[in-house]
Amino acid sequence: MPTAAPRWVFGYGSLIWRVDFPVLATRPAQLRGWARRFWQGSHDHRGTPNAPGRVVTLVPDPSAACAGVIHQVEAETFAHLDGREQNGYCRLVVEVEARCPAARLQATTYAAAASNPAYLGPAPLDAIAAHIHRAAGPSGSNAEYLLELDAALRRLGTADAHVASLAKRVRDLEAASR
Ligand code: SIN
Repeated sequence: MPTAAPRWVFGYGSLIWRVDFPVLATRPAQLRGWARRFWQGSHDHRGTPNAPGRVVTLVPDPSAACAGVIHQVEAETFAHLDGREQNGYCRLVVEVEARCPAARLQATTYAAAASNPAYLGPAPLDAIAAHIHRAAGPSGSNAEYLLELDAALRRLGTADAHVASLAKRVRDLEAASR
């Protein structure tokens, strides 16, 4: 029997498309004031400590809105999520705008601040794409992470220029290396 009320988790990266935990409901949602950026290093999923990959984090940007999903989960699911979202990510409680039906809801999200040791920060898009093209870790290739995210955002009917530009570059690199 569940011991606590269900809660919402806002996912903007792999939590959109790699759902390896029980969910009660999923809805499209957006988080205003934050942008999604491939600025976080990954030592544990899409890279290794010696050759980190690049994964997404949330970066404050008053003019931006980050589209993703909210999953309704039981409180117990946070133990799994805390184990999965490590390596610099911390829980942050945010207010999101959900769709279907429209509502403002409080949700927990996992964000990696610029102060965490695995943070890589900004770089030219060509350099980020080359980095993603060569990186891989225990969860698979870094390119898979990017391309699955790009596909998931398209399925949501949302456009993220940062993700789409990187996905195009990585597809071109993959085609060139065949
Ligand atoms: C998220 O998906 O919301 C957090 C970042 C990730 O696990 O890719």
